[in-house]
Parts: sequence; structure tokens; C-alpha cells
Amino acid sequence: MNPPSKITRRQFLQLASLSLGGLVVSPLVSACSRSLEPESIDLSASTAVPAPTFAAQPSVGELVEINLQAAPARLSILPGGETRVWQYQANLLQGPTTSLQILPDIYLGPILHLRRGQTLRAHLDNQLNEPTIVHWHGMIIPAEMDGHPRHAIDQGQIYNYEFPILNRAGTYWFHPHPHKRTGPQVYYGLSGLLIVSDDEEAALELPAGEFDLPLVIQDRSFDRQNQLVYSFDPMVGFLGDHILVNGQADYTLEAAATLYRLRLLNGSNARIYKLAWDDETPLTVIATDGGLLEKPVQRSYVALAPGERVELYADFSADPVGTQRKLVSLAFEGGRGGMGGMMGGSAAGLPQGAALDVLRLHITRDGHPGSGLPERLSAPGFFDGQDAVNSRRPRRFNLTMHMSGLINGRTFEMESVASDEVVRLGDLEVWEFANLDGGMVMMGGSGQPHPMHIHGVQFQVLERRLESGSRQAYNTLSDGFVDSGWKDTVLVMPDEVVRVLVKFDPYVGLFLYHCHNLEHEDGGMMRNYLVES
Ligand code: C2O
Ligand code: CU
Ligand code: CU
Repeated sequence: MNPPSKITRRQFLQLASLSLGGLVVSPLVSACSRSLEPESIDLSASTAVPAPTFAAQPSVGELVEINLQAAPARLSILPGGETRVWQYQANLLQGPTTSLQILPDIYLGPILHLRRGQTLRAHLDNQLNEPTIVHWHGMIIPAEMDGHPRHAIDQGQIYNYEFPILNRAGTYWFHPHPHKRTGPQVYYGLSGLLIVSDDEEAALELPAGEFDLPLVIQDRSFDRQNQLVYSFDPMVGFLGDHILVNGQADYTLEAAATLYRLRLLNGSNARIYKLAWDDETPLTVIATDGGLLEKPVQRSYVALAPGERVELYADFSADPVGTQRKLVSLAFEGGRGGMGGMMGGSAAGLPQGAALDVLRLHITRDGHPGSGLPERLSAPGFFDGQDAVNSRRPRRFNLTMHMSGLINGRTFEMESVASDEVVRLGDLEVWEFANLDGGMVMMGGSGQPHPMHIHGVQFQVLERRLESGSRQAYNTLSDGFVDSGWKDTVLVMPDEVVRVLVKFDPYVGLFLYHCHNLEHEDGGMMRNYLVES
């Protein structure tokens, strides 16, 4: 009765590559959807990996072309011997010279500066001794460009990316995404920022150039020879004992007494930060994962989970030269394995929720007082929740931990989706992530925060609800959530249910959603979803 439910990967990729703008209907993929009575759709069955083709997806806008190599390197992080790392190294083949900002002497990859409307062409060259693939976190791009683990390449192979920049101005990033090896590859150094600009943002004249500072926050552990140690409790994820900012230990930000735009990325594997100035100066947040907020918001602290970004507008103009201040992470109840948790955290690191210093700010010179921040930053173009096709019955994802993380009881499968993981191109949906794993306390399997990330989209947070558990513990972090902007990663705390509004547009194909605790992700807390026309 049912039409065949299998399509080859080659066919699938061809269909995906034809899908820009949803203009081309893909008969095979929609044929699949009618055969959904069987539990899953298997998208495997081909052998050779086809070179991505761009015939149906013409380049739009100015082309920026780079070589991007993932390779071993050594550099100095702590005093004493050099540390062996993995690093993205890039060179610009075509496009404005400002497109590529190389950061010398640190393991982080170069910063890509792109404008909305440009096209990025990147040739990933794998010089690691294991498979890898690059994922462009937060970017709205075709499925075959998204760095799905099924596209991982071996040592010596090249993967060719090409996609137009459709995103709003914002702070995005790229990192590896191979099956079960995302955690270690990010940990050993592979990640970089992708900063998108656009006209709406330019009109604001926010602090730019040397006053626009990326701050990538990560935790690491080192052995006596200064080599990185990657050991962790799989329930909790990796928690280190050194905080690195932009790949540097004991980071000091030497700043002028003026206005700054600080772009913060939590590039850590599992650690959540509760960021605040130690002198209680409030934080002015101007952007989240998907770019500028409609208006700035003030917080006494900001919660930042792995994968999330937040941008701060920092006014140091009243600070006399010589001022010193610290950006810290305040203590919070971090779930089991955190403070007072049963699992005692990771092997060596500071527990989740421990108080720690992130960076030292030192005002070393005078600066321009600068003009204030406009009251209105952007027209974010939010969706209307009333338009969601399933507003009465949100698509529900139960997050549980049983030795490893599961989503609706399932672990990751490379090439298939379940029948409840198929969405329609152009649909606006409510997705609900429920972290109600209270039954497994004695196994240490519950009480974990899960920063949930959806590929291929930017979404809005609709609502958070604490179903049970201690409001007091929850409140040690919850005032720091910034849910008023575009997001691609949202922290779901223990006993919490979070609803998001998400639109699947403009690409069909197979995308991922997963926990961005990278040890949870590698442990299988990741699934495919399929956008079909
Ligand atoms: Cu930044 Cu699939 O992840
Ligand atoms: Cu992503
Ligand atoms: Cu998780």
C-alpha cells in the first residue's frame, strides 16, 4: 500500500539543494511523508558522498570565499610548556579583506565578518586524524551546508560549503559536529565566531572596531605538562577548573573609559555562567543569539548556557583611569552534580554553579563619552503565536537521562526521523521542551539542565513554567534568562517546561535538534527533524 519509504542520500541531497525559497516541491520527500505509519524514515542507503551541487542555488550577492583548515597546532596558554590543540586556520581567497579576522597566538578560529546578502563559500580541509564537519551555529542555511554528522569527512578530504547569508545581524559561530566527537573537538580548540552585520544595525552606530569586542568564554582543565585533559561525568558533562576567555587564561580586558559592545559566546562544553560585574554594575543586554533585541534590557546578572550568545552595551565612560572590575560567574543551584549535588561534579573541575572569575576589566586610558543607546534597537519581526499551526497542541519533547540523554525516549539515529519529527516547510509551530526527569534521582540521571538547540532556525521563547521542584533553587538563575529576542538555544532547567515558537523556512531537508551540553549531545541527546514541502 505504502509508497517506498526510502530515498537515497544522493536523491535527498539533490532535493535539498533544490529547495531554496521553497519554490521547488520535492515529490520524493513528500511521498515519504505519506508512508509515515512505519516508525521512521530511513534516509541512508547510498554509498558515495556526492559533492554538493549548487546548480539550482545561484550565488546571490558578493562572494566571500575562504579555505578553512582543521589542523593540530601548539601554542602557549599557561606559563610554561606549550599546549597541543586543534585549530581552525583560514585564508581568504575572495572578498573584502575585512571578511577574515585572524586572531594570532590563540587556538580560536578566525572571526568571519559577513554582511547579510553576501554569499559564503568555504572549503573545509580536514587535517585531523579523525572525521570532522563544520556546523554554522544559528545560521539559516540549506541542510547539506549545515554540518550534519552524516556529512563528516575523513582526514585529507575537503567539504565545499556555499550559502547566502540570510540571518539578521548578530553573533553566530561555527564548530565541529561529527558523530560522538563534537565534545572533544570543540574542547581541543575547534570553534570560531561568525559575525553578521546588516543595514538596520549599521544605522544604530553601535561601538565598532576596537570597541566591538568578542569574548568567548570556555572552561578547560590542564595536566602538569600544560596539556588539555578531557575527562567528565557523562551525566553532567565536562566541567573544567580554568576559565579561558578568547583562549587565554587570567584574561584582562584593558579598556578605554568609553562605550563598548561586548559579544559574549558561551563556547564551553557544559558549563553555564551567571554573569555579573563584581561591583554590581547592572548589565545592559542589546542582543541574544539571533541579533539585536527590540529594546535594551537591564539585568543584574545574565545566564548564559553552552551555545548561547548575548551582547552587552557597556558604558565605562564614567570610570576613571585605573578602575578595576571583574566579570564573574555568581553561584547558582546548577542541578544534580552541581553545588551539593549527588554526583559531585566532574572528575576535576569546579562544579556546575560554582562561583568563579571570568575576566578582569582594567580601565587603562581615557575615551570619548559617546552618545547614549537608542531606546529602540531593531524591528525584530516576531511571529504571532496565534498563527502557529499547533498552538493548541504543542509538539512535545520530553528530555530524560537514563545513562545518557534521550529525547522522547530516543537516542540519536544518523539517517532517520520518527513520525513526530516531520514538519512542513513554512509552518509556524510551538515546540515544548519538558525537563521533568524527576524519577531517576537515585541514578543521578535527573536534575540536569539542558540547553536545547534547534538547527536551521531562529525561534522565540513563548513561555517557561516550573512544574515542580524548588522555586528557590530555580530562582538562583532564572532572573538571568533573556527571552525577549531571537534564540537558537534555550536553557531548560530541571523541572521546567519551555515553549518556543519556531518557523521552518526557507529550506527543506534533514536538520538537527539537540542538547548543547556537548557531552549530552555526543551521548545521543540529539535527533533529526525533517522539513518537507
Ligand atoms: Cu552549536 Cu548542533 O550545534
Ligand atoms: Cu547549531
Ligand atoms: Cu542536556
